[in-house]
Amino acid sequence: MRRPMSGPGSLQQGNIVARIDTLLGAMTLAEKIGQLNMAAGSGAVSGPGERVALEEGVRAGHIGSVLNVWGTQQVHALQRLAVENSRLRIPLLVGLDVLHGHRTIFPIPLAEAGLLDEGLWERSAAAAAAEAAADGINLTFAPMLDVSRDPRWGRIAESPGEDPYIAARFAVAKTRGFQGADLREAARVAATAKHLCAYGAVTAGREYAAVDTSMLSVHETYLPPFAAAVGAGVAAIMPAFTDLAGVPLTAHGELLENWLRARQAFAGVVISDYNAVSELINHGVAGDIVEAAALALRAGVDIDMAAGGYSRGLEQALQRGLISMAQLDRSVRRVLELKERLGLFAHPFARGESNPPPESRTLARELARRSIVLLTHRQPVLPLAPGLRRLGLIGPLAEDSAQMLGPWAASGSPREPVSVRAGLAAALPGCRIDCLEGYPLSDDGEPAIGAVEELCQEAELVILCLGEAAVMSGEAASRSHLGLPGGQRAIAEAALASGTPVVALLSSGRPLVVPWLIERAHAVLATWFLGIEAGHAVADVLTGQHNPSGKLTVSWPRAVGQLPIFYAQRPSGRPSRSDERFSSCYLDVPFTPQFHFGHGLSYSRFELQQLECSPLTVRSGGSFTVSVAVENQSDTAGETVVFLFVRDLVASVAQPVLLLKGWQRISLGARERGALRWNIPVEALRFIGRDLEPTLEPGRFEIHVGHSAASVERLACTIELSA
Ligand code: NOJ
Repeated sequence: MRRPMSGPGSLQQGNIVARIDTLLGAMTLAEKIGQLNMAAGSGAVSGPGERVALEEGVRAGHIGSVLNVWGTQQVHALQRLAVENSRLRIPLLVGLDVLHGHRTIFPIPLAEAGLLDEGLWERSAAAAAAEAAADGINLTFAPMLDVSRDPRWGRIAESPGEDPYIAARFAVAKTRGFQGADLREAARVAATAKHLCAYGAVTAGREYAAVDTSMLSVHETYLPPFAAAVGAGVAAIMPAFTDLAGVPLTAHGELLENWLRARQAFAGVVISDYNAVSELINHGVAGDIVEAAALALRAGVDIDMAAGGYSRGLEQALQRGLISMAQLDRSVRRVLELKERLGLFAHPFARGESNPPPESRTLARELARRSIVLLTHRQPVLPLAPGLRRLGLIGPLAEDSAQMLGPWAASGSPREPVSVRAGLAAALPGCRIDCLEGYPLSDDGEPAIGAVEELCQEAELVILCLGEAAVMSGEAASRSHLGLPGGQRAIAEAALASGTPVVALLSSGRPLVVPWLIERAHAVLATWFLGIEAGHAVADVLTGQHNPSGKLTVSWPRAVGQLPIFYAQRPSGRPSRSDERFSSCYLDVPFTPQFHFGHGLSYSRFELQQLECSPLTVRSGGSFTVSVAVENQSDTAGETVVFLFVRDLVASVAQPVLLLKGWQRISLGARERGALRWNIPVEALRFIGRDLEPTLEPGRFEIHVGHSAASVERLACTIELSA
């Protein structure tokens, strides 16, 4: 969709359209297809043969974009070939995954989501964009917006969690952070919202497996984050590798054309996932690469990432009449428009010209300590006593700083992160810290039980540093057992049996199923993969330098058999009850999660009081206010997040027992009382009806305000929507 043409900006826009028309008119078929071909540059750096092929492709105009090439020298060398040596001098898009930082690595998205702070979400994306742009990158394949409700799926680590409303607000903040107000700025990069859609619903949490979910779920759960990203002006969209009820997303015209382009008015570029065009053959919907290329192009996929499918297939697809020249031109035009939007024609070398911005370490530490979730605190061992003299640090993640980067470390160096040991040593100079790996992360060897027991006897307090290796989450990292890998349980059991107080840190890309640990340790903290400042952040929280406020944006399971697990379940004709066999529950495990969505403790103690909704009867087009008092009943100043949920009691499509519609943060001094207030438009009570359209039906709605989705932590009132 072009912008309207009036005023001085329109002159420029008019010029751009004219320039693109001229270019299109001058292009050969091979040059057009070249604009749709994104070549992988990873081999370019390692293999000389591939480098030559890449350079020749760029010079010939057969490659319009590259991925996995970064660093000013590398990028500019290729860009120079494009703008100085190719016939039409069209600049390259240069793409890279910048999921949670570029050189300065921030916490994984699942952890960062738990900050519930749009300002910080945006700042971290802006900082990552500036670093990536300083390395010549002009396009990133982020944010990842897959609603994830099954932690067997390793990519839950890259996601903002289980809730579409959080994912939608995350989408907006991240898009703004990456792109800024004007994509021509040299410190900004074009963002790609991925992976459209429902990738998180792969069968049994198994990576790349089939997805068969209802269109109702697609519209109510999986698409809203993408609609929000489009609303925020995201430059690109990436369809998921997976299918949806038999139709691979790379060939899903109904979603890509009818929903994305027609309904959402998305005017940007659709970029396939890596090799996904040729994988249409494996999916069983295309007989050869020609059919695969035609299916993807017709569905609206503009750029073929790394499959070479468009280069090999589109010319024949034209000859076979499977696609039209107009369809091809449409995609070429969108690619050229993005290059214009990025200012690449005017300033192809702007990115990579300036020095990299100073490292964002301060921001990294702030994000990391705010991402930590205090899961349990049974006995008051935290914050650590100032007079602590001897601390035992046990576990494979105590010193292994490289793991702190997590599964998608972009160009972060494994030497950079601060380990837990280093962070604690810096924070507690007067305390002796004895460190013991106990069991290697690499999963071979015998647990060092004797040494663990000895260390526990000598220490005043033991900190267990347990969890996954970074490579155990992220892409192609599904797991069926979500416990602690290897002999970690054995060393943890030895520590728990010692009688010395135990604090457990869980570093992972997903919730881990460890009820035996959670129920017995004095305190347990989810420390995820926190990035470059991990050790300092952990020390800040353990010493009380920072009072934890991180929240879970996923329900934390007790057992793998509960998966998928999420708070926004539909009610069932026989709602779950622990005292009733013929209700929706299990014989062998409670139906509730170990920790509810939104859970996260603090060293302060907050209480909610006096929930009020006004007016109690509302009309379509109107709004209502919800207010609640919050009291800090402790002697420690702190900050917390309060959630607002809605339940639509009777509707033509049964509505989930709770749906998040808002949250707010509040900071309160010791014993201080404050108030929160929301103004909710009645439109927020709409749901996806049977016709898959947003629908508003009169009736009663419960408004719940709480610390989490747990029923004991919520207050509720009821309002009526009149006909
Ligand atoms: C495959 C992943 O699915 C996608 O998220 C990523 O952007 C591409 N590889 C490129 O690295």
